[in-house]
Amino acid sequence: MSQYKATALARANIALSKYWGKSDVALNLPAVPSISITLEPMRTETTVEFDAGLTQDEVELNGKPAEGKARTRAIKVLDQVRAIARLDLKARVVSSNNFPTASGLASSASGFAALVGASWSATGMERDNERWSAMSRQASASAARSIYGGFVELPRGIPGDASNAAKQIAKPDHWDVRVVVAVANEGAKDVGSTEGMTLSEQTSPYYRSWVDCSDALAAEVREGILTRNLTKVGEAMEQSTLAMHACMMASRPGLIYFQPATLAALATVKRLRKEGIEVYATMDAGPHVKALCNSADAGRVATALADTQMVLRTLTAQPGPDLEIRK
Ligand code: PMV
Repeated sequence: MSQYKATALARANIALSKYWGKSDVALNLPAVPSISITLEPMRTETTVEFDAGLTQDEVELNGKPAEGKARTRAIKVLDQVRAIARLDLKARVVSSNNFPTASGLASSASGFAALVGASWSATGMERDNERWSAMSRQASASAARSIYGGFVELPRGIPGDASNAAKQIAKPDHWDVRVVVAVANEGAKDVGSTEGMTLSEQTSPYYRSWVDCSDALAAEVREGILTRNLTKVGEAMEQSTLAMHACMMASRPGLIYFQPATLAALATVKRLRKEGIEVYATMDAGPHVKALCNSADAGRVATALADTQMVLRTLTAQPGPDLEIRK
């Protein structure tokens, strides 16, 4: 076995209190706080090996060589780790997701978290969750949250402060909730998050209001998690989602991530609530609806969403663990 090799297992996460907008583009600092659940079993597994026999970095994502932006972003992470470890070796990176890439769960979050954990550990340096989270955040802010399991908060970044990192606010077994993902379509989104956030900040008349309401919504979600109050978390989560989408939609040109299946799934969530099931919806920069409910109701929620017109299928997740390393 090579001396410089490690494998990391990271989970995707879903924000309950959403992140949209940057306070420092160069350092990739979020303009608002966000709070998420780490999702089991939606995993990225990444193996990194630094090898003296390589003349350039080799990066493979889901069985194919990474190209363009994906490759550049991965190499940037490797370069940072090499600089800290003072290691002058090229790396072989093999990464795969066990959930379908077009499932609507951001693979960049678990992907960058796993890459940071695996490359750092491959150099032989000791685990450092705080630095891993800050480093993952530089690549993709939501990735900062995938270092930790359970319920995780990434505070708003202070411009110029590169140490901005997530922290765990409750362990996975703190609260037995489920996230049911209603997949609305296959295929990649047309406007990526970084591009979309910049557009919203520069053109949306609602951007300021979005940033202004984010602290109160995050506080409500945090308190709701700590007291296991689904109503509180769910209501704040829905408002955070819709405030973010209102801000996105009012950009110029408008960022409309909703599709017919999105509205149909939202109607199902509302109907279930009328029927007495506590379930709430959230969405990211894509058309998929993610429903938050108690574990006892997950089966009914999944069936109702799977039976919703235009919804392709569902996936169910529960709070997952911290990023895991295997040497
Ligand atoms: O971390 P990014 O750049 O992929 O942005 C994620 C933004 C949202 O998914 C829309 C919200 C969030 O907090 O995850």
